[in-house]
Amino acid sequence: MRTQVAIIGSGPAGLLLGQLLTKAGIDNIILDRVSRDYILGRVRAGVLEWGTVGLLDEAGAGDRMHAEGLPHDGYSLAFDGRDHRIDLFGLTGKRVMVYGQTEVTRDLMDARDAAGATTIYEAANVTPHEFDGAKPYVSYEKDGVTHRIDCDFIAGCDGFHGISRKSVPEGAIKTFEKIYPFGWLGVLADIPPVSHELIYANHPRGFALCSMRSETRSRYYVQCTLDDKVEDWSDERFFDELRRRLPQHHADAMVVGPSFEKSIAPLRSFVAEPMRFGTLFLVGDAAHIVPPTGAKGLNLAASDVYYLFNGLREFYADKSRAGVDAYSARALSRVWKSVRFSWSMTTLMHRFPDTGDFGQKIQEAELDYLTHSEAASRAMAENYVGLPY
Ligand code: FAD
Ligand code: DHB
Repeated sequence: MRTQVAIIGSGPAGLLLGQLLTKAGIDNIILDRVSRDYILGRVRAGVLEWGTVGLLDEAGAGDRMHAEGLPHDGYSLAFDGRDHRIDLFGLTGKRVMVYGQTEVTRDLMDARDAAGATTIYEAANVTPHEFDGAKPYVSYEKDGVTHRIDCDFIAGCDGFHGISRKSVPEGAIKTFEKIYPFGWLGVLADIPPVSHELIYANHPRGFALCSMRSETRSRYYVQCTLDDKVEDWSDERFFDELRRRLPQHHADAMVVGPSFEKSIAPLRSFVAEPMRFGTLFLVGDAAHIVPPTGAKGLNLAASDVYYLFNGLREFYADKSRAGVDAYSARALSRVWKSVRFSWSMTTLMHRFPDTGDFGQKIQEAELDYLTHSEAASRAMAENYVGLPY
């Protein structure tokens, strides 16, 4: 088999890149090690920057998002028993879209089906080869038979645990990592959200986040320890804990009900540099991870796709390598700013086991500064809605 771009991974990064390439007339094949249903069963991000919204439109996969997604003009920081609203639209002229990653993925898969592009699910032992030269290829096994796809470029969109980054010789890659001493326990439940905007709460008992997927479906999180087990958290215990971490008026307004998804995610910052090795590109979580507090993971995958797609389009349309050559530097410049923002919002809103009195006072001073300084609130809002590409 031959294609122009072989894409490893059918998450949001691989699917968005594939759809933009297909629309530009650039042939591509997507390979994933798991099934389509498995991918659609994963519950992850919920907030889209407007740049991501624009890319989904450009990919021809934005109709349902505009019909069913919820544009949000602000969110609340809750602490000390009160709310401080970050007026995203008033401060930046931009808003975000609340629309789940599962739905984004489904829309991109449907658009890909409609375009007739090839995706190979349940492909085992997917491996990129010879990407230091001009004739790279990807091998994989399916139903016991080994296959080979020759290509011009390989896009490694296979997430943090994928094979692409691991295939790069150790001496050619530098990694940066920070592990946080807590996780997030999240539930999904068909109950109306406690508020029509998101609430990020800092409480002596720990962080909490009230998000949503629709006007009848809530997505709630509480900070938990790294030893916590999902089995130890009944719905009753979860909602009791969540309500204790919110200002009284929100706790009183909360409707509770049975959850149908409950999971724990560890928090990590990670960056691999560079993001290009010859004809292999790392895209999205394959190259970087951020803690979820700033809602940036999926949006960073989308901005990487923007830079790579434009580089590949220039390569095929204008016979110019300039965009492809600039990919890593352009992507990393934006990545590090989102890594910084995600770290700072995580540091501001969580209770760290080793903070001490001094760290606690600094956190309180920063929250108070945000409340009284429009400049500070605007800086936070500018990062949250997404820095320009
Ligand atoms: P992924 O979505 O990870 O997709 C990678 C794809 O590659 C997968 O389909 C996988 O099956 C496939 N793959 C992996 N290895 C191989 C292989 N060897 N061969 C072939 N295919 C392979 N972000 C937020 O902004 N907010 C959140 O609340 C949030 N919650 C999260 C919760 C969890 C548990 C996780 C893991 C992430 C969360 N994120 C969140 C981050 C966000 O979901 C990711 O940033 C986003 O999924 C990145 O998309 P991606 O396409 O780069 O990678
Ligand atoms: C959601 C997740 C986040 O990490 C975040 O910052 C906002 C919303 C969510 O899952 O809805």
